[in-house]
Amino acid sequence: MSLHNLKPWIVRAQREQYAIGAFNANTMEQVQAIVLAAQAENAPVIIQISHHALQYLGSGNEIIGLRYMAEIGKVAAQSVSVPVALHLDHATECEILQAIGLGFTSVMFDGGDKPFRENIEATKRLCEIAHSVGVSVEAELGEVPRADRSGIAQPATELTRVEDAAEFVCATSIDVLAIAIGSVHAVKQKNVELDLEHLKAIRAAVDVPLVLHGASGVTDACIAEGIRLGLCKVNVATQLNQAFTQAVRTKLSGDPKEVDPRRYLDQGRDAMVEQVRERIRFIGASEKALHYDSLC
Ligand code: G3H
Ligand code: ZN
Repeated sequence: MSLHNLKPWIVRAQREQYAIGAFNANTMEQVQAIVLAAQAENAPVIIQISHHALQYLGSGNEIIGLRYMAEIGKVAAQSVSVPVALHLDHATECEILQAIGLGFTSVMFDGGDKPFRENIEATKRLCEIAHSVGVSVEAELGEVPRADRSGIAQPATELTRVEDAAEFVCATSIDVLAIAIGSVHAVKQKNVELDLEHLKAIRAAVDVPLVLHGASGVTDACIAEGIRLGLCKVNVATQLNQAFTQAVRTKLSGDPKEVDPRRYLDQGRDAMVEQVRERIRFIGASEKALHYDSLC
């Protein structure tokens, strides 16, 4: 299939209280793992590409990185029969405009460093452009912090302000809203709790689908309850990198003479397929690829 706009899936997931998985990829093998897992689970899926992945793929040149991922994402989507969206994560205005031109079907504008009014204006402008070509827009309010290099969570600094969320959604026409409710990026153990009361308050103030960033470190109990309360896009990266890297490490330490990348990267890819499948099942997206023709 060709790449899809994720909006209709997210709206359905919100209505039926499950979530769509947005899985980060840094390499071609990780993109393959995501679509193979989605195919095996008969689930719609979002391939998510970060700013850092673009820099890596383009050897420091993000535009080259975007071009690589746009093509790899298209081929990956065509290789399976489930719907796939290609999402640019945590991006600047300039990267977003390039990504839209190259065929990404979803973008996230991170205008959190701007004053609130400027963030509204910039997001609104990007929504007009993106929507005119069928691309959906995610924005974030508040801050989801990043763990230190050892993967230890840093305390949440700025939760999403409920009154800001209501005004922002109304003024910008964003499609999905990423919220700060206690999760932390890049945590290596599942021990972070969400502020579910805060999630309830945001849900009561806005009806736009809500996104959980930094899901790797969040306890499964909180993710499950969060989905019940309205989270319908769940972003996972670190947990997948852990599965991929552990499998490569095991292979190479058991066979130190191996030098052919095909004979260790495949181990990483296989391990990541299993991890993505497990997450898809956990968030309730298995078998949800059915009947998407009528939605898209
Ligand atoms: O945008 C990416 C996600 O929020 C993933 O975060 O690495 O903590 O799972 P994570
Ligand atoms: Zn994130």
